[in-house]
Amino acid sequence: MQKRSMLVTSALPYANGPLHLGHMLEHIQSDIFVRFERAMGHEVYYVCADDCHGTPIMIKAHNEGMTPEQLIEKIGEGHRADMQGFLINYDNYYKTHSEENRVLSSKMFETLKKEGLIFTREISQLYDPVKGMFLPDRFVKGTCPRCGAADQYGDNCEVCSATYDPTELKNPYSTVSGATPVLKNSVHYFFDLPKLNDFLHEYVNREGVLPPEMAHKLDEWFKQGLKPWDLSRDAPYFGFEIPGTSDKYFYVWLDAPIGYMASFKNFCDRQGIDFDAFWKEDSDKELYHFIGKDILYFHSLFWPGELHAAHCRVPTSIFVHGYVTVNGAKMSKSKGTFIQASTYLKHLKPECLRYYFASKMTADPVDLDLSLDDFVARVNSDIVGKTVNLASRTAGFITKRFEGRLSESVYDHELQERAASIMDKVCKAYDSRNYAEAIREIMALADEANRFIDREAPWVLAKQEGTEEKLQAVCTQGLNLYKALITYLSPVLPELYAKSQEFLNHPLPFNEAGSPLLGHTINSFKPLFARIDPKAVEAMLEDSKQDLKTQAAKTPAKAEAKSAPGDSAETEENGFIPLAPEITIDDFMKLDLRVGTVLSAEEVEGARKLLKLKVDIGLGVRQVFAGIKSAYKPEELVGRQVILVANLKPRQMKFGLSEGMIMAAGEGGADIFVLSPDTGAKNGDKVH
Ligand code: MSP
Ligand code: ZN
Repeated sequence: MQKRSMLVTSALPYANGPLHLGHMLEHIQSDIFVRFERAMGHEVYYVCADDCHGTPIMIKAHNEGMTPEQLIEKIGEGHRADMQGFLINYDNYYKTHSEENRVLSSKMFETLKKEGLIFTREISQLYDPVKGMFLPDRFVKGTCPRCGAADQYGDNCEVCSATYDPTELKNPYSTVSGATPVLKNSVHYFFDLPKLNDFLHEYVNREGVLPPEMAHKLDEWFKQGLKPWDLSRDAPYFGFEIPGTSDKYFYVWLDAPIGYMASFKNFCDRQGIDFDAFWKEDSDKELYHFIGKDILYFHSLFWPGELHAAHCRVPTSIFVHGYVTVNGAKMSKSKGTFIQASTYLKHLKPECLRYYFASKMTADPVDLDLSLDDFVARVNSDIVGKTVNLASRTAGFITKRFEGRLSESVYDHELQERAASIMDKVCKAYDSRNYAEAIREIMALADEANRFIDREAPWVLAKQEGTEEKLQAVCTQGLNLYKALITYLSPVLPELYAKSQEFLNHPLPFNEAGSPLLGHTINSFKPLFARIDPKAVEAMLEDSKQDLKTQAAKTPAKAEAKSAPGDSAETEENGFIPLAPEITIDDFMKLDLRVGTVLSAEEVEGARKLLKLKVDIGLGVRQVFAGIKSAYKPEELVGRQVILVANLKPRQMKFGLSEGMIMAAGEGGADIFVLSPDTGAKNGDKVH
C-alpha cells in the first residue's frame, strides 16, 4: 500500500467559552479518522487551535475585568484540558493570537492585494456613540419591523423569523451600552470574491471536495452571485492590525483559517518538518478540514478562494458534520442538556461518548442525537456486555488452569477466519468516515464470538474431566476474538486498547487484528471497563443545570446564523443583558411594588404565551396577563405569593384588561423564574 501524507484539522473553537458536547462531536470524529489513518501507516499531522479574535471576545474580556489576552489564556487552558480528557490527540493545539499567524495573515493580505483582489469601499454601519465602536449585527437589538416583537437581534426576528438589516429595527439599542446607535461611515477592505467565481464553482464541484448535498447548497449561492467579502473591522477590535493602517483590523474570519497554517507552522518549526511541502500549489500531500455545517461558506468559498489566489494548494476535502441534539431536541440549558465537556468528564468516561458518537456517525452532514437512555444501554451492551465480557469470561481459566499460557492453536478456525475477514470492510468504513458501518461490522463479529462462547461454555468444560485441551483452546479463542474486536475498535477506544495490550502482554497492530496470539503468556485479567451507572447521567444533568445557573447565561452555540457570510459569524453573546442607563432614587420611588397571592390562573384562548392571573394584593384583586406560559402550568401558580407592579397604567389587551405586571427573572422560554417574598409577607405589603 502506498504511504499517504496528510494534514488534518478541526474547526478552531472560539476562545470565549467552555467546550460543550457539540464541539466534542467534531474533535472525536477527526481524532478517530487520524488514529485510523496512522494505524494504516500513513504520515498524519493533526492540528487545531483556539480562535481568539473578534468583538465578542473583546467584550467578554472587558465584562470579566480582564484583558483579551488574559481571557484567551484562561479559556485556552480549559480547552486543552478538555481535549486531553476526551483523548483527542492533537500534534499541536495552538491559538490564532500568535506571531506565526500575524505574519501569515499579513502575507496573505499583501498577496491578495498584489493580485488585485482587494479594494476599499466606504460603508455605513450602526455605531455605539457611548462605547465608541461599530456594532456587529448581533450587538444591536430592537423591535422587529415586521411583527413588532421587542428585543430582537439586529439581523433576524426569533418570533416571526423575518430577516432584515439592523438599520430597519425600531427603537434600536446597543446591547453593549444600551445607547441608541447612530449610522456612521467608514472605509472597509473587501476581498473581491466574484472575480474567483469560475474557479470556485469548478472547485466545490470537484469529486470528493464536499458531500454532494453541501455542493448543492452552494449552488444556490452561486446562482445568487458571490458577493465581495468585507474583511476589515474598525478599532476598537481584538485582532491583527492591517499593515499600513492604524485603526483597521482583520476581521476574525480572515485570520481564523490561516490559524490552521499557523498552528502547523509552529509545530513544523519545532519538529523540523517541511511546512511548504504541505502548502505549495502543487503539493502532493492531502489536506482535510473537519467542520460543522454552519461554517461551510467560510471553508468552501472564502478559504479556498484565498488559497488559490495566493498560489497555495486548496483543501483535498472538507468534511462536514451536522449538529448534536440531546434527547431529540436542541441542547437546552433549562433541561440540563447543554452539557459542557468538563461536566461530562466529571461523571463519565470519555470513551463512552466516543463510542456512542462513532456508532451513529456517518459521512453525511446530518444531526446526531445523543439519546441518553440509548447511550447508557448501547455502551453497556456493546463495550461491556459483548466485548469486554469475552475476555472476562475466558481469561480466568487461562490464568488459573494454564499459568496464563494460550494454546498453540484456536478451537474454531473458520470463526477465526471470520475475525480476519472483516478487515477490508472495517477499513473502508473508517477511511470513508462511515464509523457507524465500521461499528456494525465489528459488533456483528462480537455477536458471533459470544454465541461461540455460549455454545462451548468454558465454565462447563472446566468442571469436566479430560476436556483440558478443549478448555484451553476455547478460552484462547475467546481471548483472540476479544483481541480482534478491541484492535478494530482502537481508533474509537484508545485507552481500552492500551490497557488490552498490557493485559494480553503483546502489541496489537491494526493490520494483524484477525491473526491469533498463540502459545503466548498473558497477564491476569483486571476489570477493563465499568458499566455506566444511569445515576451518573442524572448527576451530570443536574450538574449542567448548576453550571449554567452559576455562570449566568453564556450562550456558546448561537451558531445557526453562521451559515450566511459576513458579520453574522460573530454571533456569540457575552450572555448578560447590559445595564440600563442610571436612574435616581426618585425614579425608583415612582414604582409601587406590592406582595400579592395568585387566586386563580388559567390559559388564554388564542394567546401562545399568556396566562390570565387573578392576584389578591390586599387592596383589591387585580387581573394580570403574564407571558409566563412557556415556564409555568396554571396550577403551579395558584396560592403562590408574587410581586406585582401595582401602579402600572392598566392596558387594554385583545383578551381583556391587564392591571399590572408580575415580576420574574430569566431569559424567557423555559427560563422564567417568578419572584416571591420570603414567608411571612402579607398581601398588600409594599416592596422597597
Ligand atoms: N471559530 C469558528 C471556527 C473557525 S475555523 C477556522 C467557530 N467556532 S465555534 O466554537 O462556534 O464552533 C467550532 C466548531 O464546533 C464548528 O465546526 C461548529 O460547527 C461546531 N459546533 C458547535 N456547536 C455544535 C453542535 N451543537 N453540534 C456539532 N457541532 C457543533 O465556528
Ligand atoms: Zn418579528
